[in-house]
This record gives sequence, structure tokens and C-alpha cells, in this order.
Amino acid sequence: MDPAQFIEYKDFEEHARASLSKMVYDYVASGAGSEWTLRENERAYYRWCFRKRILADVSEIDLRTRVLGQELAFPIMIAPTAFHRMAHPDGELATARATANLGTLMVLSTLSTQPIEAVAAAGGEKYQGWFQLYIHKSRSLTEELATRAEAAGFQALVLTVDTPFFAIRYADQRNGFTLPPGCEMANLRANLPEIPGRSGLAVYADTQMDSSLTWEDVAWLGSLTNLPLVLKGITTVADAKRAVAAGASAIIVSNHGGRQLDGDIASLDALSVVVEAVDDACPVLVDGGIRHGADVLKALALGAKAVLVGRPVWWGLAAGGEEGVCRILEILRDGLADAMGLSGVAQIADVGRQLVMSIPVGGDHH
Ligand code: FNR
Repeated sequence: MDPAQFIEYKDFEEHARASLSKMVYDYVASGAGSEWTLRENERAYYRWCFRKRILADVSEIDLRTRVLGQELAFPIMIAPTAFHRMAHPDGELATARATANLGTLMVLSTLSTQPIEAVAAAGGEKYQGWFQLYIHKSRSLTEELATRAEAAGFQALVLTVDTPFFAIRYADQRNGFTLPPGCEMANLRANLPEIPGRSGLAVYADTQMDSSLTWEDVAWLGSLTNLPLVLKGITTVADAKRAVAAGASAIIVSNHGGRQLDGDIASLDALSVVVEAVDDACPVLVDGGIRHGADVLKALALGAKAVLVGRPVWWGLAAGGEEGVCRILEILRDGLADAMGLSGVAQIADVGRQLVMSIPVGGDHH
């Protein structure tokens, strides 16, 4: 099917469910434990409504934004997600090209199935990208990744701080999750073990990644690089303040898309308190549960400088590589412009807290 025929998020999700293998679909769609946080991430968006203003001249809607000095055509970035080649043979090359074409950026995962340098090259002249780090027990490996990312032209390092180890994810255990033939962790030159009844990713992380990380390691990482350091996975005021004190250049409010601590607060619910605590010391971004342009506008109104999306990008990849990713991003982008115009806001800088109001009970959104 031609990705141009996909009209909304649901179309992509249904197509991916039908076309990806069960192991891959479940890996992407599922969350940790009972999946309460996974569900809450989406539901949180339905606990807020708009307070639109009318007759506001919305003939020209401008979505451009700056984040860490980088110009984005619209404030929707691609969250770091592992193993893109499981959804399309081009993998991260397709995702990188889509972001370069549309004028936004991807955070490339440590667990990318294409090499760092090839991803940057695929994006071409207009490429902008950040690189996400999981810290391995082998510190020299982490140093090498940070150095390679900087040399390849990535403009920020994103340390994921909510993953000392990979959470128990029943779907992956049931499916004996591993990488299909032909896919490997291209930057680590490693593969995942295949063990029935266990997640190969969790087993890999238990043996290779460092669960002893503390704030001291954040300082160590900062000393390794000239790039801005972004901390991803913060959901509390105390940690947000600590991150600012530790010199973070930006914070991503995130619970890893409900894939780590089951029972963690919905990311949108954590956003406003973190924004207040950070008090403009650095930009705050958010991810988790964003499926519509209106969701993006709600997050911006609650203080996010930009948002990131994870699963929607996978459904785009499955629908048609670069073209599919472009299409899903365009749908989100156009939905944001639509919501802004209809609520009387023509520029991102004019989106403010007064634009939304919390409602006591979530509506039925399906
Ligand atoms: C992720 N996420 C993630 N985060 C990270 O820091 N490094 C990674 O390698 C991955 N890998 C990954 C794989 C898959 C399949 C998913 C769905 C997610 C988490 C990701 O960056 C982001 O926080 C969530 O995906 C956001 O939630 P939504 O948009 O998927 O609801």
C-alpha cells in the first residue's frame, strides 16, 4: 500500500499490526509489567482540553522552533528507538532521511542497526541529529560511541537515565525476543542472544550494560564531550533540579514509553511540575503517548519546547521506510498546525499555559 493513502495514526498502527511479525510488533507496541504506564501515557492527553480564542488571524501558521540552537521546521522530533531494520531494510537510514527532508531531527539510539556514520551521511547536507547513549560496563565502548557521534556531526548527546537495566516485559519473554537474521547492533558489533522464554535484549543488558550508574557518571560523560548533554527519562521535580545542577543542557520528561517502571507517572502529568521546577534554566522536552497533532499542542501549552515520538515512527517505517516515516510525521505536523489555527494561535512562541485546562475525568477518546 502507498503510504500516501494513510490518513491518520490508526491506519498506520493497523497496517503495522497486520504486516510485522508478532515478535517485532509486540516488541514495539508493548510495555513493562501490566502496561499501566503505557496506557496512562495516552490517556493523560485526554485529561486536558483547549480554551481556544477566536478571530485571531491564523492565515499564516508558523511551526518553526529552536531547540539547543538548532532550527526545527516543527517541534516534533523522533525519539531514540532501537533496531529500525526490524521494520524496514533501510532501518535508521530511512528515518534519518525523513527527518532531514522535513527539517526535524532524530535521536539515534545506541542500539541502532545502522552505523552512526552511515546514518549521518544518509541525512545529507541538511542532516541534524542527536545521539542517545546507554552506558556499557566497558567505559571505553561508551567513550568510543561519544567520540564517533561527535565526529560524525551529531549535535547533542542524550543519556537515557531511566534504564539501569531493561524492565520485565512479558511480551518479549513470551516471544523469546531476539534480532532477526540480518539485523545486528551495528555500533556495538554485537548481536542479541536467543533464549526461549527470555528477552534477548534484557539478557544482553544484564551482562553488558552498567546498572551502577549515578550522578557522578553524568559528570564523567559531560567531561568526555563538547556536545550539549541531554538527560532523558526524568519524571520528578527533585531529579529535574539535580539535572540542572549537574549541567544538563536539556531534559526529556519520559517514562520510556511505559517500557521501564510500570506504575511511573504519565509523562504529560509529570511535565508541568518539571517545567516549573526547571524554571527556564534549560529546555524541557517530553515523549510518551503522543499520537495526534492536538497532543503535541497540549504538551507545548504545558511547557514542552518540543516533543518526541517513538512508536508512530515504527508504524511509518513498516508502511514504507522513508516515505512512511515522512507521512506519519506530516500527519502529526499538519495536525499540530490545525489545532493551533483552530485555537487561535499562529506561532509556537504564542502557545501558552492559558491555552489548556485540565478536566477532572478523561473522556472516551476512541
Ligand atoms: C524505545 N525507547 C528507547 N529509548 C532510548 O533511550 N533508547 C532506546 O534504544 C529505545 N528503544 C526503544 C525501542 C522501542 C521499540 C520503543 C517503542 C521505545 C523509548 C523511546 O525513546 C521513547 O521514550 C518512547 O518510545 C516514547 O513513547 P511513544 O511515543 O512510543 O509512546
